[in-house]
Amino acid sequence: MNNIIEISNLNKSFDALKKVRVLKKISYKFKKGKIYSLMGPSGSGKSTLLNLLSLIDKPNSGSISIDNKQIDFNNSNKNDILRAKKIGIIYQQDNLLPDFTALENIYLASLAAGNKRKLSISKAKVLLKKVGLLNRSEHYPSELSGGEKQRISIARALINNPQIILADEPTGSLDLKTAKGIFDILKKQINSNRIIIFATHNRFFANKSDCLLEMIDGNIKAING
Ligand SMILES: Nc1ncnc2c1ncn2[C@@H]1O[C@H](COP(=O)(O)OP(=O)(O)O)[C@@H](O)[C@H]1O
Ligand SMILES: [Mg+2]
Repeated sequence: MNNIIEISNLNKSFDALKKVRVLKKISYKFKKGKIYSLMGPSGSGKSTLLNLLSLIDKPNSGSISIDNKQIDFNNSNKNDILRAKKIGIIYQQDNLLPDFTALENIYLASLAAGNKRKLSISKAKVLLKKVGLLNRSEHYPSELSGGEKQRISIARALINNPQIILADEPTGSLDLKTAKGIFDILKKQINSNRIIIFATHNRFFANKSDCLLEMIDGNIKAING
């Protein structure tokens, strides 16, 4: 089967002062080998959906299956391992660890997935080269530009060779030229066994995906693909 992620009747609400229903019975099958863009106005639920797909948050009801195996949201240990091995996540604001160098930020994600230090460091160096920042390996996040930090975040997301890459407005806080560079690096990471889902406000980038999804009134509408 080509479906790598299948969501079924997914509901998510938040109980703040007032109950907000964000995702309303969403069902969708995501195929591997494709890059999906997720569009929708601010507050439409893009991050909420990505946080469920990354197994960071739990739905109120409904299910998520990855590789035809239904996720048990009560088994957070298992889901943490699954996430570390299978899912690479990139946020709008890089959430790099401020007290660690670029190289360390990348290879720590490999250690977290249970790999040996030596292997982790050598993989991190290959990735630093791939994102064009080998000369910045000993720099701390505060010494890097926004675009450079995002490139480190991409390298970190890739180190465990994840089958699923989730990016939440990865270019949202960058100028257009830098954003294009980041988007090109991201887009190059697609392969037949992998899926990339990225949330964006930018129709220029959204149109470059294989499948454009719009979040409308708590649901997903496929515009193409
Ligand atoms: N932890 C939370 N507690 C309460 N409300 C939340 C929480 N997270 C998100 N929301 C609400 O859910 C809605 C969708 O938010 P979000 O998924 O962040 O939208 P988007 O990423 O599309 O801008 C918003 O109305 C937001 O205020
Ligand atoms: Mg968001």
